[in-house]
Amino acid sequence: MLFELTEEQKAVRDAARDFTISVLKPGVIERDEKQEWPVEQMRQLGELGFMGMMVSPEYGGGGMDTVSYALAMEEFSKYDSSCSVAVSVNNSLVCYGIEAYGNEDQKQKYLVPLATGTKLGAFCLSEPEAGSDATSQSTTAIDNGDHYILNGTKNWITNGGHADYYIIIAQTDIEKGHKGINAFIVEREREGFIVGAKENKLGIRASDTHTLMFQDVKIPKENRIGEDGFGFKFAMKVLEGGRIGIASQALGIAQGAYELALQYSKERKAFGKEISKHQAIQFKLADMATEIEAARLLVLKAAWLKDQKMDYALASSMAKFYASEIAMKTTVEAVQVHGGYGFVKEYHVERLMRDAKITQIYEGTTEIQKIIISRSILKD
Ligand code: CAA
Repeated sequence: MLFELTEEQKAVRDAARDFTISVLKPGVIERDEKQEWPVEQMRQLGELGFMGMMVSPEYGGGGMDTVSYALAMEEFSKYDSSCSVAVSVNNSLVCYGIEAYGNEDQKQKYLVPLATGTKLGAFCLSEPEAGSDATSQSTTAIDNGDHYILNGTKNWITNGGHADYYIIIAQTDIEKGHKGINAFIVEREREGFIVGAKENKLGIRASDTHTLMFQDVKIPKENRIGEDGFGFKFAMKVLEGGRIGIASQALGIAQGAYELALQYSKERKAFGKEISKHQAIQFKLADMATEIEAARLLVLKAAWLKDQKMDYALASSMAKFYASEIAMKTTVEAVQVHGGYGFVKEYHVERLMRDAKITQIYEGTTEIQKIIISRSILKD
């Protein structure tokens, strides 16, 4: 068993680290406060090839492995999870979904611009009444000859106001339950496609989260992904990989908070010495370092399994479950190490603590991950 990264993987990690410090960190506090979409940062992420990292070069992507993607996600998320969630959705839900399951025309038309960062993607599964219970889709796409007619509402859609192409999951035949669900690629300009209210969130505040409404939106048949009735399985398969992205994000949030706490503990003095010399702080740092390392091993194992084309559903749920718990725990402790300074924005840790919470919610709550894990370990 070799735990060493390749030279290529290290180069991707280092490039993402430099980008985070030089481009994402400056202004991150203001963007969070103003809920400001990172226009320039997203443009540069696209130019540098971070929006289609794992897509084959044939379709304009970087042809990188999932381990490299996880490493880059960790780096971005040390400071800016509003950007990293946009990177994650575009890479692992939208680009991967089209490359793995789309046809050649869809790849040429949609994947190439998404992978090169000239267009942005969104993934629309959640509804007002169907977040965790994903089979209960109310959005309908009714077969009308050479096209479908889409009606309904989607909630909490990441990149909702800025995306160009949306993968929309909808019920095409209610009688068939989850076997009557399909996935479609829908352009924002289509008539009846309404971008609704932007959410005012606790964390990842610069990320663009919207409700979407569809009123008789006409979708050509050729925009359906896969065979009729493949939509639910499509969503489940795509989310298996998406969870590696969010697990990496959670890991990055935890690592970022830990590094800030470590640094601060060496500078801040109390009772006549640096607080890092007090055992109360040392024990916190030891817990953080150990738990983060355990989370990293789970994340990289899930990414490695995907790269080996082995089953990674269980591993990605375990990684997402554990890394998001550690992100929450570590950020709370990092604020505590900072004392009063941790409670003010300039020190970054309060934002990391707010950002950590969403990693326990999106792409399947902690409880959903436990359902997936327990089903897997209990099956015959
Ligand atoms: N791969 C392939 N097929 C799968 C699958 C998988 N991973 N998981 C389920 N299926 C199949 C099952 O085999 C079954 O098919 P058959 O009937 O043919 O056997 C079918 O799908 C239905 O499966 P279940 O009976 O297991 O369905 P369920 O209702 O019990 O729910 C669930 C399963 C795992 C809980 C699922 O509903 C789920 O994952 N929910 C969470 C959804 C989620 O993650 N939402 C996040 C939204 S996206 C987002 O957050 C993006 C963002 O903005 C960042």
